[in-house]
Amino acid sequence: MKKIVIANWKMNLTPTQSADLTVEFKKKLSKVDNKDIVICPSFSALSQVSDKIGKSNLILGSQNVSWMEKGAFTGEESIKNIEEFGCQYAIVGHSERRQNLGETDEMVNKKIKICLDEGITPIFCIGETLQEKQEGMTDHKLYTQIKEGLKNIDLLPHENIVIAYEPIWAISANRAVTPHDVEPAEAEKVFKFIYQNLVDLWPLTIVNNNVRIIYGGSVDENNSKDFAQIDIINGFLVGGASLNSDKFSQIIKNI
Ligand code: PGA
Repeated sequence: MKKIVIANWKMNLTPTQSADLTVEFKKKLSKVDNKDIVICPSFSALSQVSDKIGKSNLILGSQNVSWMEKGAFTGEESIKNIEEFGCQYAIVGHSERRQNLGETDEMVNKKIKICLDEGITPIFCIGETLQEKQEGMTDHKLYTQIKEGLKNIDLLPHENIVIAYEPIWAISANRAVTPHDVEPAEAEKVFKFIYQNLVDLWPLTIVNNNVRIIYGGSVDENNSKDFAQIDIINGFLVGGASLNSDKFSQIIKNI
């Protein structure tokens, strides 16, 4: 499987700005054919970004999706709608939604299921808080998120999933207030733990061929070089640095 680099623009750009940045990406990244490059704009920008992507090598993703296909769910976005815009990926269970919007493991599980049923590849986010890390609870937290998030899901040979490990304390790191950077060696241990949990869940061939485990949390044009050295990391989920086409291109080169 190709490595994957995902731009998570969060709620930072208007539809027009998103379309403009997509055009910049297209210019700078048109020759990349050995990696999957996914752009996840806001829902309101999907239409314009989809138009700009056209037939290029860029792939469209959404930042979230409802677990219900249709009905009385004010403010939610249906998988059918994101499919109509051409989304092939959907971020599910991002820590900002889990922490600020009450998204639970159970909801995340339902979202992963509807994505797989509809042929959308879920980008399933997991990660521990700083407090959990300091209390030595990282493994427990990840184990629970994987167990609950993937409950009753048998990944089939035609289905794919991306698991994004994002230590919550490393996301949007303001290094003045965040005491630690993630050490690649430390991250490698966590990645092996995640991989082992997946192997306990699914056949080895499925884990090796249909799952990509990626890293996220203040990935930039510099630290991505170190993370890229770790074999088990198949790509990045990039927030802040994906708002700048030069930085994002450099991250893609690094992996
Ligand atoms: P960041 O965001 O790169 O700005 O830390 C990553 C993410 O939250 O997906």
